[in-house]
Parts: sequence; structure tokens; C-alpha cells
Amino acid sequence: MSMPPLASGPEGPRALRPLLETVLDALDKGTQARGGPLPAGGPQAVAARVRHTTGDVLPQEGDPDALRTLVHTLAEGAADPADPLCAAHLHCPPLAVATAADLAASALNPSLDSWDQAPAASALETLVTQALARETGAADALVTTGGTESNQLALLLARETLGSVQLLCGANAHHSLTRAAWLLGLPQPHILPTPTGTLDPATLDEALTDLPGPLLVAATAGTTDAGLIDPLPTIADLCATHGARLHIDAAYGGGLLFSDRHRNRLTGLDRAHTVTLDLHKLGWQPIAAGLLTLHDPGDLHTLQHRADYLNADDDTEAGLPDLLGRSLRTTRRPDILKIAVTLKTLGRTGLGTLIDHVCARAHEFADLIQAHPAFELYEPPTISTVLFRPAEASDDTVAAVRRTLLNDGRAVLGRAHLDGRLWLKATLLNPHTRPGDLAALLNLVEGSTPR
Ligand SMILES: Cc1ncc(COP(=O)(O)O)c(C=O)c1O
Repeated sequence: MSMPPLASGPEGPRALRPLLETVLDALDKGTQARGGPLPAGGPQAVAARVRHTTGDVLPQEGDPDALRTLVHTLAEGAADPADPLCAAHLHCPPLAVATAADLAASALNPSLDSWDQAPAASALETLVTQALARETGAADALVTTGGTESNQLALLLARETLGSVQLLCGANAHHSLTRAAWLLGLPQPHILPTPTGTLDPATLDEALTDLPGPLLVAATAGTTDAGLIDPLPTIADLCATHGARLHIDAAYGGGLLFSDRHRNRLTGLDRAHTVTLDLHKLGWQPIAAGLLTLHDPGDLHTLQHRADYLNADDDTEAGLPDLLGRSLRTTRRPDILKIAVTLKTLGRTGLGTLIDHVCARAHEFADLIQAHPAFELYEPPTISTVLFRPAEASDDTVAAVRRTLLNDGRAVLGRAHLDGRLWLKATLLNPHTRPGDLAALLNLVEGSTPR
């Protein structure tokens, strides 16, 4: 066998071009073969098809059709967030331009742990993280793999600044926060009940008064289950009064910053010590595209680390940027490229339009539900999450309807327990969704609900 070609270097583009044709063709045919938002038949049928088409994963002699076969297999068996009926999670359809940029990132393969592996990528990361930090009123931002890593880093920075800090958050907060407290050996978090879906200031005030501290309050701008936003300015006031540190998890809601119409819902974000952003949710990026913004760049000292092969003192003194202290990871993908390309291609206006669009669609869907006698709406959406359930159905029925749609490959809806009941969840992140798609989704759910 001749040497397989490389993706970068002078021959890279020439080698990639026909392979890209193969990939695009296989994506096209695989998507057509699926013919819906996800493959039909449930986990066993999908696993059997994948086993059958993949065959021997490590054959003695290589298979030149592997790229076509496996991309087709993955596309045929994908839960495709670009299908309007795939709306369960904070799982967005990536923009074509962002995905194209990600191809360049893979081809060039810079690694952001030292300047000599990423000269331009590290400079671009500085520019973009500073711009996004300014957007939230912060001083700096780190690139992460998503909301979970951002929340972990926020707790780590709090611990290194304040000592053994106790996490104080609502039951509506993302599970990665309490997991991070466990991982970091912090005291048992204090979880406040959130019967209305958001943190209640009076309950928080009481806890801030009673608990000895040091405390890290974590508020949420865009809850996972319902897309609700905690009362950020009041929470920031309470933290200031009680001397508590404030983290805001805006993994979902952070995207509202790009919209002139909706950004005022994030008032108070600039008062947090740290903010989680995640552009692979309301930002149309391929995974991964997380950020953690920091109010005090001094917090970063705790991540400083010396590894002679990456950031020797004399190299740093001679002017080579020291990148190792910007992450707990070592080798690190240039996820910033696709983000930069997206921000610059669409601009504020383009991104704001996408945000406004999905929020408007959520309201239209909520109106459809409210007008339909067979359905109950949880409440009008805050961002783009709509919770609803067949009226009079038991929780078991609601859960079964969701699984039936999944098994048949007809729709991907999420589930959430709120108000003591189980709800179906539609998280609308697809700006191409049309009102007719939403009506079709509701018809499907109605048709799958036993009477
Ligand atoms: C509010 C919130 N924070 C954090 C996360 C975790 O993000 P990731 O899955 O990118 O780690 C999620 C995921 O849905 C989320 O909804």
C-alpha cells in the first residue's frame, strides 16, 4: 500500500478534495436513507445495522471504502438536529460555515498548549476570547469543551481563591455543578428548592445569612429543563451584600447576548466572578465550543504550570507566549477558529436574527399548544424551550409517548419533571424550523398518545 496522504502541507488540499466529495456524498445518501429525525427501530436495531455495515473494525488489510461506508452509517443512524422534529436537547444543528472552519482546524491541527504548535491559532484565540469576555462585561475568557468543563473550572477557581468553598445553588442548576463540587473535594453543596423553576431571592438570602461560608452561589441563565433565567441582578445584589462569590451558568442563555431584542434578559451577567458560555448550544457550533469568562484575570494564576518542554522560563522570558495556564488540558483543539469564523461571517445582526428566530418559533409553538384542547402548556417560553403534555395523561403515558416516537424514528423530544409532573420538552434551536413543522410535531404527539 502506498503512503496515505496527509491533510496539511502542500499536498493536503489536493488529497482532501476527493475525500470531501466522498464524505459529502455519503452524508447525502445516509441522510436520505434515514429519512427522518433519527433512525427507526430503537437501540438494538441501530446497533445491529452499525455492526453489519462496519464489519471488522481492524481488518488485516485496509478497506479503501471505509470512509464512505462509515460516514454513510453514521449519517443513516444519526439523531439529526437539523431535522425540525429533532428537538429534545440543547443539541444544535451546526452552521455549515462553522463546520467548514472545523475542517480547517482538523487539517491544520494546531494544539493550543504551546506557541510553537499554534502560532496564529493562539493569537486568534486571544482576540476572540477577549472580544467574548467584553461581551459579558468580563476581563478574560478561557476556551473549554462545554458547560461541564466551564462549571468545573469555575468551582476550581473559587476554591483556589477562597479555600474550601461551599456551593450554594438551586435545584434547577445543572448537575455538572454538584459533580464538580464532588470532584474537587468541596463540602456538600447546599441545594435550595426551586418550586417555581428559578432561585427565589428570599430563600437565597436566608441561606446566605445562615451558612458560615465561604460560599459560591451558582445562578443559571437558561435552565436545562425549562430555559428559565434566575433573577440575576437581585442575586448579584445578595452576593455583594453577603460577600459571596457568584458564578452564572449561562451555557444555554448566553447566546441571548447577540440579540438586541433579548440581551436585556441577561442584565446582571457582568456582575458575576465567572460565567459559563457554550456556543454548541444557542450558538450553532459543532461540539465543542465552551467558554468560561472571568471578572478577575488574577484568578488565572492558579492554573499556571511549568512543563519545560512547553513553557520553559527562558522561552517565556524571551517572549514566547505561555499558553499552558489557560486550560487544565494539555493538547487542545483550536475550537476558536469555527467560533471566530461564525462571529465574523454572521456579525451581531446575523447571530441576533437567528436568536430572535428560534425564540419566536418557541412562542408560536407555545401558542399552538395553548390553542389545542388535547394539550397542556407548562408556561410561555423564556428562551426557546417549550414544555407540554397531553392533557389528562399520566406520567407513564407521557414517558411512553416519547419512547414510541424515538423508537419509530419520527421525533426526538426531551422530558422534564416540573411541578411534580412529567412534561415533554421541545428545545427549539433550529432557525430553519417553520410553523408547519411545529404543527406536524404536535400532530405526531397527538397521534401517538393512547386515548
Ligand atoms: C445549564 C447547563 N449548564 C451546563 C451544561 C453542560 O454543558 P455540556 O453538555 O456542554 O458539558 C448544560 C447541558 O445541557 C446545561 O444545560
